[in-house]
Amino acid sequence: MAPPSSLPPLDPVYYPAAVQPQEITASLARSAIFLIVTVKPGDEAAAAVQEVLANIPELLRLTRIRRPEARSTCVSSIGAHAWGRLFPGPRPRELQPFEAIRGVHVAPSTPGDILFHIRADDRDMCFEFETSLLAQLGGNVTVVDETPGFKFFDDRDLLGFVDGTENPNGAAREAAVVIGDEAPLFKGGSYVITQKYLHDLDKWNALTTERQEEIIGRKKLSDVDLSDDVKKPHAHNVLNVITDADGNQLQILRDNMPFGRPASGEFGTYFIGYSRSPSRTILMLRRMFIGAPEGNYDRILDVSTPVTGTLFFTPTADMLDACGTPDAASVPEDAPGDGPADPDQSASLGIGSLKGR
Ligand code: HEM
Repeated sequence: MAPPSSLPPLDPVYYPAAVQPQEITASLARSAIFLIVTVKPGDEAAAAVQEVLANIPELLRLTRIRRPEARSTCVSSIGAHAWGRLFPGPRPRELQPFEAIRGVHVAPSTPGDILFHIRADDRDMCFEFETSLLAQLGGNVTVVDETPGFKFFDDRDLLGFVDGTENPNGAAREAAVVIGDEAPLFKGGSYVITQKYLHDLDKWNALTTERQEEIIGRKKLSDVDLSDDVKKPHAHNVLNVITDADGNQLQILRDNMPFGRPASGEFGTYFIGYSRSPSRTILMLRRMFIGAPEGNYDRILDVSTPVTGTLFFTPTADMLDACGTPDAASVPEDAPGDGPADPDQSASLGIGSLKGR
């Protein structure tokens, strides 16, 4: 669909004609580093960070040369507070700070201007890329969280269950994640929500396997979905299946990773969910934390506590490339966006029209 004819012609630099998404839907890798930073105050810091963002493809190229088969990638996503400083001009309509959710359990909201989702099949390649990236960012950012994650046996989380089975694949994966004609100026972009969960493994391991399977909604060893007649209404995979008003399932792409430091008693899951609208992930979170109906909450949360919560917009590779160029910086503040941000998140995200199954 062409952009509405009432809009002036698009700036060729700020809105490049090509729409090349970042490598969000690339094959999910064996190792990751989730790096969240805030940008220091001042125009100088913002300009320096813009330059680094535009240079990421080159940084990746230099890293990849060392071991191409490790499939190193880095997806950079921008938080609501930093958007105007790094991308002057219109903002994606659903880019807002993550709002804390207070239900039976609490999902906190924590700071974050940029998320660097660094992935590779080998840990050293993630480490190498992060080291170069931080050297370039220098004193212009403050690291608020750095979590190295790893794949655990056959893609299990530290609760012992296979995590990622029902992720969409192929065309369905693109359709779940990549913004299309609904926001012509941001086509090819995405939204991402992250949460860092700490598990109480003593409490979890004290449960019977049958009880654990009820909580997740799948068999632990075989990863087979429980049949509807035994599945509990609060099962994780019941609460997280949502549909639009016409009954079509609305999916997200997860690339969760276990992390931990056994000697410190730290065991966790880093949740990361990309989607073409953050309303999907937010609705899933509300169903998990508040319950659906209210009180029918996700029992995973009795043993898993989120300590972070952030929402970012993932620009296209082309937008990142143009970040900080004089032409891009000169885009007027009032250039067309895909709509004004609404201070009431649930209203602007249209959560009211989405449902659980
Ligand atoms: C402690 C954190 C979490 C753990 C350990 C966890 C683990 C799992 C496991 C084991 C499955 C079943 C296998 C699969 O289909 O992937 C699953 C499914 C799923 N999870 Fe999570 N998850 C966590 C947090 C979340 C959060 C925060 C969301 C969304 C906001 C979410 C969304 C989903 C979805 C959409 C499915 C697939 C449901 C289906 O289509 O059957 N998960 N998760």
